[in-house]
Amino acid sequence: MPQLTGQVVIITGASSGIGEATARRLVRGGAKVVLAARRLDRLEALARALDPSGVGVLAVAGDVTNEADRQNLVAGALKKFGRIDALVNNAGYGTRGPVEVVPVDAIRRNFETNVFSLIALTQLVLPHLRAQGGGCIVNIGSVAGRIARPLSSVYDSTKHALEAITDGLRGELKPFGVRVTLIRPGFILTEFIEAAGKASDEFADNAGPYAPYLAASRAGVQKLRRWAGEPDCIALLVERALRSDHPAPRYNGPFHAKIFLLLKWLLPDRAIAFMVRLRR
Ligand SMILES: NC(=O)c1ccc[n+]([C@@H]2O[C@H](COP(=O)([O-])OP(=O)(O)OC[C@H]3O[C@@H](n4cnc5c(N)ncnc54)[C@H](OP(=O)(O)O)[C@@H]3O)[C@@H](O)[C@H]2O)c1
Repeated sequence: MPQLTGQVVIITGASSGIGEATARRLVRGGAKVVLAARRLDRLEALARALDPSGVGVLAVAGDVTNEADRQNLVAGALKKFGRIDALVNNAGYGTRGPVEVVPVDAIRRNFETNVFSLIALTQLVLPHLRAQGGGCIVNIGSVAGRIARPLSSVYDSTKHALEAITDGLRGELKPFGVRVTLIRPGFILTEFIEAAGKASDEFADNAGPYAPYLAASRAGVQKLRRWAGEPDCIALLVERALRSDHPAPRYNGPFHAKIFLLLKWLLPDRAIAFMVRLRR
C-alpha cells in the first residue's frame, strides 16, 4: 500500500472548497502538496497555515486554462520537490442556464476549464509519473457526470466527459503503474454555487421563457443545502485513493450521492427524467 508520507501531490483548485480540504487532509497525512489556483492570496494563507516552515507546501498561482501557467505549475513542483507522485484534477466550475440561451463561447469556457485543461495538465505530468515507474491521477467528477439535469446540462456534460477520459486513461496507464480514479461528489458546501452564479448570471438573467424554471431551480438548490456534505468527506476519498495500490475506478460520496447513483442504475431513463424535471 503506498504511503502518503512524502508523496508529492499537485492539487488544482486548492484555494477553496474540496481542493482546500484535500490539501489540509493530505498535509495532515504527511504528504507534500503543491497548491494551485488563480487566487494567490488564498493559496499563500493556506500554505502558511498548513506549514509555516514552507518546507512541505508550495503555492503556485495560475489559471489552469493557460498553457504557460500549467507549465509553470509542473516546473515549480519539480523544482521544489524533485518529483511528482500524484495529480488531483479538482479545479472546475459550473454553468447554469438553458442550452438555447447559454452562448457557445461560455460553453467552450466551461469545457476549457473542466475538461481540456485537465487533460492538458495530465499530459504534462504523465511523463514524470511514467519515468518514476508510477503515480496516481485523481479526477474530481460529479454525480452530474452520470445524471444530467435540465438547466445544468452544460456543466453536467463536462463531467460526463470526465467519466470517459478517466476510464480511457486508466486502461492506457495501467502498464506504466499509474493509477487513475474518478471521484463523484454529490452536493458539497463550498463556493461552487456562488461561482456558478457569477459565471452564469449574465445570461441566466436573459433566460426569457425559461426564467421561472431557473428561479425555481435556484430555490431548489437552496433547499438541497440540508443534504449537502462537507468538503472533507470528498478529501477523505482522495486520501483513500492515494493510499491504495488498486484504487476503485470510482468513489462516490457523500451518502446522498450513493443513493442518486443507485437510483440511476436501477431506474429507467423516464423515471430519472421525471425526478429531475423542470418545475416552476
Ligand atoms: N460543490 C459541489 O457540490 C460539487 C459537486 C460535484 C463536483 N464538484 C466539483 O468539485 C470541484 C471543486 O469544486 P468546489 O465545490 O470545491 O468549488 P469551489 O469552492 O468553487 O472551488 C473551485 C476551485 O477551482 C478553482 N478554479 C476554478 N477555475 C479555475 C481556473 N480557470 N484556473 C485555476 N483554478 C480554477 C478555484 O480557484 P480560483 O478561483 O482561485 O482560481 C477554486 O479553488 C469542481 O471540479 C466541481 O465541479 C463540486
